Amino acid sequence: MSTHEREPIGVIGTGYVGLVTAAGFAELGNEVYCIDIDAAKIQGLNEGRIPIWEPGLTELVERHRGRLHFSTDLTEALEHARLLFVAVGTPPTYSGDADLSAVHAVVAAMPPSDRHALVMKSTVPCGTGDHIKRAFREQGKEGFRYVSCPEFLKEGSAVKDFLSPDRVVIGDDGDWAGEAVAELYSPLDAPVVRTDIKSAEMVKLASNAFLATKISFINEIANVCEETGADVVEVARGMGLDDRIGPKFLQAGIGFGGSCFPKDVSALKQLAGNSGYHFQLLNAVIEVNELQKRRVISKLEKHLGTLVGKEIGLLGLAFKPNTDDMREASSLVLSARLQAAGAKVRAYDPVAEEEARRLLSGVDLVASAEAAVDGADAVVLVTEWPEFRELDLAAVAESMRGSLLIDGRNFLDPEKLRAAGFAYEGIGRPNGGDGPPGNAEEGDGGGRTPQR
Ligand code: UDX
Repeated sequence: MSTHEREPIGVIGTGYVGLVTAAGFAELGNEVYCIDIDAAKIQGLNEGRIPIWEPGLTELVERHRGRLHFSTDLTEALEHARLLFVAVGTPPTYSGDADLSAVHAVVAAMPPSDRHALVMKSTVPCGTGDHIKRAFREQGKEGFRYVSCPEFLKEGSAVKDFLSPDRVVIGDDGDWAGEAVAELYSPLDAPVVRTDIKSAEMVKLASNAFLATKISFINEIANVCEETGADVVEVARGMGLDDRIGPKFLQAGIGFGGSCFPKDVSALKQLAGNSGYHFQLLNAVIEVNELQKRRVISKLEKHLGTLVGKEIGLLGLAFKPNTDDMREASSLVLSARLQAAGAKVRAYDPVAEEEARRLLSGVDLVASAEAAVDGADAVVLVTEWPEFRELDLAAVAESMRGSLLIDGRNFLDPEKLRAAGFAYEGIGRPNGGDGPPGNAEEGDGGGRTPQR
């Protein structure tokens, strides 16, 4: 099917998933009608302002401006498109359940029709499709079809992930809508999983929960490495060559964050609980992750003693590189814990400063890595931004008051750090005797890490 025959679609919700889905399909030649209740956001989009920091997205939207329509009104989308992708927020509630109020608002806004279908892109609990179909019946909209088509894009590589997905998952009731969605994705030439709606919903939650479990597992292995003297980077290398395990998501660090893993793990745990099943594994995944964010504190205290009055420089605040997103970022817990322990915190992030000003209090936000480390008793690498590998380590060591660097993402080269005079601590990595007594490699008592 050439581009001029590709059917127009609607996308409801212009957040990460919505905007990337819209721009991605425009790239594939579809006319896309984007709807959002946020009038200011729609006005911004119509004026070319992209509300999220995502590599390549602004260019893609610019390139397809002619095919992308932004409005707060559903009419045009309903007129031109029969497939309406739903990409609204489903944030966690206090109970850990997913808040589906925005989804239900979309359902209520749909007119009776037998030529339209909702295609769910938002992450929703298993069973949501049934709820929506029941709501359609109760609202006299029996003709409206429903398809589950979860999105697996990662922040920071969302455009690439949309255009070259590992797989496309389509859950439907075997009607025209499932076929039409499969046709939409056909140019991507990705494996397509055609299944029932419930299973498609569960693929998404289970995939995120499994990736989070893999991270918590390697983080616990890292913690055992610290007690035994093994190197988690080597361990992960050896594990990852087994194609039943795979090398991806075996990067030990100071915990996973973001708008998805924490939310989806707790939503799945809650979903299981609501169905009477106690999902023990996920309890541990969450607990390990919360503890992992705090282990840096004990590392700092091991070297510096009390943190009262100490100056700690944080390199990176976003939950991962290539995004300005700080939702559930480890930096939030770490900076709060540091301040609670009496330390002064100075921090730098290449793109998340605005978010940090909104989310962090009591942290001195500075405009460069050099400023963040200047006069610091210790530095912690929190987010593995590529620019931190370009730092002049000797100059950093010179400008610091102390010599301790904790690499929270095992991103830097320990040998180079030591050569530059740092006392080095990684996550699950041998610290080459830089540690005070009690460290696995330490033969005899070395005393606290020297202050310059
Ligand atoms: C995730 C899923 O990867 C994606 O498929 C889904 O659609 C949305 O949720 P995202 O949250 O953007 O994507 O980030 P991801 O790259 O998965 O990283 C999540 C967190 O895990 C980050 O805090 C990252 O630092 C951490 N992480 C990731 C590790 O600690 N170790 C790893 O090996 C990989």
